[in-house]
Amino acid sequence: MINSSDLKLTAIGTDIKRKNAEALVLGIYKSDDKVRIANSVLGAQSTATLEQTLNDLGVAAKADEFTRLPGVEDSKAKVLGFIGLGVSELSQLTAETLRRAAGSAARQLSGVKSALFALPTESVELTAAVAEGIALGNYRFENFRSKKSEKPQLTEAILVTPVSADKQLPAALKRAAILGRAVRATRDLINTPANELYPESFAATVRDYSKSLPLKVTVYDEKKLAKDGFGGLLGVGGGSDRPPRMVKIEYSPAKASRHLALVGKGITFDTGGISIKPAAGMHAMKSDMSGAAAMFQTIAGIAELGLNLKVTAWLCLAENMPGSRATRPGDVLSMYGGKTVEVLNTDAEGRLVMADGLMAASEEKPDAIIDIATLTGAQMLALGLRTAGIMGDEALRDQLVAVSDRVGEQAWGMPLPEELRPSIDSQVADLANIGERMGGMMTAAVFLQEFVGSVDDKQIPWAHIDFAGPAFNEGAPWGYTPKNGTGAQVRTLIAFAEEFAAN
Ligand code: BES
Ligand code: MN
Ligand code: ZN
Repeated sequence: MINSSDLKLTAIGTDIKRKNAEALVLGIYKSDDKVRIANSVLGAQSTATLEQTLNDLGVAAKADEFTRLPGVEDSKAKVLGFIGLGVSELSQLTAETLRRAAGSAARQLSGVKSALFALPTESVELTAAVAEGIALGNYRFENFRSKKSEKPQLTEAILVTPVSADKQLPAALKRAAILGRAVRATRDLINTPANELYPESFAATVRDYSKSLPLKVTVYDEKKLAKDGFGGLLGVGGGSDRPPRMVKIEYSPAKASRHLALVGKGITFDTGGISIKPAAGMHAMKSDMSGAAAMFQTIAGIAELGLNLKVTAWLCLAENMPGSRATRPGDVLSMYGGKTVEVLNTDAEGRLVMADGLMAASEEKPDAIIDIATLTGAQMLALGLRTAGIMGDEALRDQLVAVSDRVGEQAWGMPLPEELRPSIDSQVADLANIGERMGGMMTAAVFLQEFVGSVDDKQIPWAHIDFAGPAFNEGAPWGYTPKNGTGAQVRTLIAFAEEFAAN
């Protein structure tokens, strides 16, 4: 289910003749109405001629605009690829504009196996951003095609950079490769259809993948879930012939002093259950396990990086189907830990499985809990398709928003208005699973908060990420983001863990 194809990332100085590659990628921008090659590594003559040609072709040098031209004598590459940087002055370049440009080029550069990337990178940070962009953009998902594409995919990227000899660069490139692998594996899982990826096969994939990493995997099957009272997972999974699973993944380096818990929504398919969804577009609900996939690959990435931090990930896996044993509207479930929930809408299933996960995570008294879920359509109404909503403990929430900003992922802090709380009161149980529709993303978060445990009467610092929109791209690819599964938030979560481990 997870492809192992990998990419070799190396760096050389700006003397490009020292290295053979099939293609040479250069960044272009438009300034004073003229297309210019950014920090061209070609000779002055070739550079001037190529700039003129690009101008004559009407190239605008916008972001995602990729132009191929035949190679020139100054380089051994037979293909030149020009990617628009999307800025009008080089001083406007940021790590993220470079990451997107490199990713966009890698994504559109099919048909070559090796390429030199000579984008303007004056620092290790910017070189790493280019490396990350390539590792993110160079992605294909062909597992379900009987004939694979005949065009080869990039297997070697050589970064051309003035900081090629910097002592910090090898570690930065290694980190970029690890992040790229984690994000691509997340996408593979999201893109795998629900007839292949269901709770049991998801759990088996986690076990298998984790064998080569310092991770301990424990799978709770339906018997264990019933014995321990995981009523959310069992209630949601009851309508499917494929029983639910809770997967606990532990990374516990010997010297770690802090403990971070991660909880992911893993609905391998969301039909809505008895409160069934309309047919149009339902196929995209194979992506309703994006949260679990993201947390799995976050902890895998943390283990690969060898961070000094204890991490426990809880993957809440169930298939929401309208079978004869499905939860009915009006049914009352007893969640892990004993709180009862009246299910007024079986399509609000994510919060039910997450409630079990948050309670289980809380029992271990971690220093912080982060959860991520494709929880509400309201997230997309509030913030659109590319910006995740982050709620919860204000300090933790703001820290996550700042980290996402730094790594180039879009996220925005949202409140937990206390007036929403009475809307999830139930006539018969402790809580109802739906409430106020206006601000529904926050209503769902207010529900989740009820399942976050306390230590010495103080709630464990907790943040909730709703990425219903960003997890799955039904539109055109852009930057390093492909169509379908995006792997969004994995880089934010890993970067957060690095920060959390450091202080
Ligand atoms: N998985 C959906 C949310 C979703 C919708 C994610 C579209 C991605 C794209 C979730 O389980 C759901 O159905 N939520 C309901 C909740 C409602 C019944 C309170 C929703 O948002 O409509
Ligand atoms: Mn649903
Ligand atoms: Zn759902």
